[in-house]
Amino acid sequence: MTTPYFIQYQESIDSSDRFWLTQATQLPWYSVPKTGCRQDKDGLHHWFPDGELNTAYMALDYHVENGRGQQLALIYDSPVTQTKQQFTYQELKEAVARFAAGLQRLGVVKGDRVVIYMPMVPEAVIGMLACARLGAIHSVVFGGFAPHELSVRIDDAKPKVILSASCGIEIERIIAYKPMLDEALEKANHKVEHCVVLQRSALKAKMNMPRDIDWQTLSNHSLEAKPVKLNACDPLYVLYTSGTTGKPKGVLRENGGHAVALNYSMSTVYGMSPGDVFFAASDIGWVVGHSYIVYGPLLFGCTTVLYEGKPIRTPDASAFWRIVEEYNVNALFTAPTAFRAIKKEDPTGLGFKKYDTSSLKTLFLAGERLDPATYEWLLETTGLPVIDHWWQTETGWAIASNPVGLEKFVTKPGSATKCTPGYDVQILDAAGEKLGVNEQGAVCIKLPLPPGCLTTLWQDTPRFKQSYLSAYPGYYLTGDGGYFDEDGYLFIMGRTDDVINVAGHRLSTGEMEEIVSNHPDVAECAVFAAKCELKGQTPVAMIVLKDGISHSHTEIEAEVVAQIRNQIGAIACLKRVLTVPRLPKTRSGKILRKNLRQLVDGDPLQIPSTIDDASVFNEIDKLWQG
Ligand code: COA
Ligand code: AMP
Repeated sequence: MTTPYFIQYQESIDSSDRFWLTQATQLPWYSVPKTGCRQDKDGLHHWFPDGELNTAYMALDYHVENGRGQQLALIYDSPVTQTKQQFTYQELKEAVARFAAGLQRLGVVKGDRVVIYMPMVPEAVIGMLACARLGAIHSVVFGGFAPHELSVRIDDAKPKVILSASCGIEIERIIAYKPMLDEALEKANHKVEHCVVLQRSALKAKMNMPRDIDWQTLSNHSLEAKPVKLNACDPLYVLYTSGTTGKPKGVLRENGGHAVALNYSMSTVYGMSPGDVFFAASDIGWVVGHSYIVYGPLLFGCTTVLYEGKPIRTPDASAFWRIVEEYNVNALFTAPTAFRAIKKEDPTGLGFKKYDTSSLKTLFLAGERLDPATYEWLLETTGLPVIDHWWQTETGWAIASNPVGLEKFVTKPGSATKCTPGYDVQILDAAGEKLGVNEQGAVCIKLPLPPGCLTTLWQDTPRFKQSYLSAYPGYYLTGDGGYFDEDGYLFIMGRTDDVINVAGHRLSTGEMEEIVSNHPDVAECAVFAAKCELKGQTPVAMIVLKDGISHSHTEIEAEVVAQIRNQIGAIACLKRVLTVPRLPKTRSGKILRKNLRQLVDGDPLQIPSTIDDASVFNEIDKLWQG
C-alpha cells in the first residue's frame, strides 16, 4: 500500500534509524545526531547517542529566537481559585530561567534529582522546565498520593531538592500539601537539602527553616540560568508508576528520544500545527500531563492549557467546553472517565451547545478503555472525530492511534485503531508464538522500542529486564492483552497482571493486598477490580480474619479502608471491604481473584477444574448480596 500512513509506518519499521534520524532534524539540536539506536553493554537500547541538546531550550528559547516570543505558551485556568494567568513564550522562558538560577543557587546541577509534589499551578510547569534546563532529573509525584507513597519515591529517587506548595484545592476542599510533605520526609530515610514551597493564598504553610525556602524569594532575582548542553541519552525525568508490588517502578525517560517522539506525535498523532491550542485535561503527576500538558505542545510551538479543576462541579459539566470557547482550543485530550462524569450530569449535552466550540477539531481519549457507550455519546453530542489511542507511562506516547495528521481511518468502537509509526506490535501466545487475526494474547512490542519510550527503570536495570524483557526475548511486554482484527485494528482488552485502572489512574492490587495484610486482624485477603460505571474500575477487598478475633467486622472493614487511604491516598478509592470465612483457591493454594471479579460483576463464573471447593462461591455471593 502506498498511503501516507503505510509509507511512514513501513519505513519506521524497516529502516528505523533512517526514519527517526530524519524526524530528529525537525528539532534545534546543539549537535544533530548522526546515529540512530544503539545498544549499551547491558543490552539496553538508547536513541541518538551522539546528539546534544537541551529540552528546555528546544521548548522555549528556540521559539523565542524564532518569532514566537509573543505567542501564548501557557494558559493557566483555575476555577477552584478563580484565577487565570497567561504566559507568552518570552515570559515562560524568563520565569523558567530565573527559577533555574534559583535552583542553581541551591546547588542543583546536572544529574541531581528534584522531586515535584505540587498541584496544577504554573509553578509546577516552571519547576519541571527549570530542571530540564539544568539537566537535573525531575520526578513529579501526583498530589493525590499520601505521605507514605511520597516517602517511598523520595527514598528511591534520592532528590537534592523538593518543590512543593502549601496546598491543593479539590473542588472546594483545601488539601494541605505541606504537612503531607513534612510527614513523608519524616518517614523517608533519605534526607533532602531543601524544600522550595509555593505559598498559596488559600492556605499558608508552616516553614521549617533553614530547610524550607519560599518559592517567591528564590525566584525574585533577575539572574537567568543558561540551558546546559546535554547528551541525548542523559535522563530528563523519572516518573513512578504502579507495578505489581508495593514498590513503584521509576520509569526513566531520556532527553533526545523524548523530544523527537513528542515533536513527531504532535503533528502525526494529534494533527496539530505550531500555534494551535492544545488542552490535555489531565494532571502533571501523570504521564499524559508530562507529555501533553508540558513537553509535547511546547516543543512543537503550540499553546498549552493548564487546568486546575474537574470536568464537573467546577462549576458544572460544561467546564471543558467553556475552556474550549475561551481559548479557541483545537484539540482536547482526556480520560474516558471525565466524559462519563460529564455524560452523567449533562446527558443531553446542553453544556456543549451553550459554548462556541467551533475551534475544536478532534477529541482524544486515553488512559483506560473507551467504552462504546461513552464513545457513541461523544460522537452524537459533539459531532467531532472521537479518537481512542492506547499508551502507557512506560512508552510516553501512543503505541496505537488513529494518526489524523497522516491519514484518518474509519474508527471502530473498542479499538485504538492502528500501530503508531515506530511500534512493531505483535500478539503472542504463552509459548511466544505469533497469534493470528482475531486471536487474543499478550500484546508485545518488538525491540527496539521507538524513541521516547523508557530505556530502563531508575537504578534498577535488573527489574526492568525482569518486568518487561524476560517474558518474550526480543520483545517488550506491555502487560495488556488484546488482538488485531482482519483490518489490522488493535483491540486492547485489559491488563493481564495485577495493575488496575481507577478513573484513568493506574494502581496495583498487589500493593493494596500488602497493605491490607498488614492489618493485625487480617489472616489473608484478595484485592481485585470490580466494574464501575463512572471510574471504569474500583478496587474491592475480601478479607479473612484471624481466628479468635472479637472486634466487629464493620469496624475492621472501616479500618482497612482507612489504611489504604492513609498509605496510598484518596485516589485509591477502596470503598468496599467484605469479611468472608474463606477465599476460593486452587488445590495448590492460588487465590482465584478472576472468579471473585466475575462474581461481583455478575458475570458467568468460569471456575477452573483445579478449584479446591467450589461451594465457597455460594457463601461469598450471599455475603456480597447481603
Ligand atoms: N490531590 C489530593 N487529592 C486528590 C487529588 C489531588 N490532586 N486528586 C484526586 N484527589 C482525591 C479526591 O478529592 C477524592 O477524594 P475523596 O475520596 O475524599 O472524595 C479522591 O482522590 C478520588 O478522586 P477522583 O478519582 O478524582 O474522584 P472524584 O469522585 O473526586 O471525581 C472524576 C471523579 C471523574 C470527576 C475524576 O475522577 C476525574 O476528573 N477523572 C479524570 C481522570 C483523569 O484526568 N485522569 C488522568 C489520566 S489521562
Ligand atoms: P498508565 O501507565 O497509567 O497510562 O496506564 C496504562 C494502562 O492503561 C495500559 O497498560 C492499559 O491497560 C490502559 N490504557 C491506556 N490507554 C488505553 C486505551 N486507549 N484503551 C484501553 N486501555 C488503555
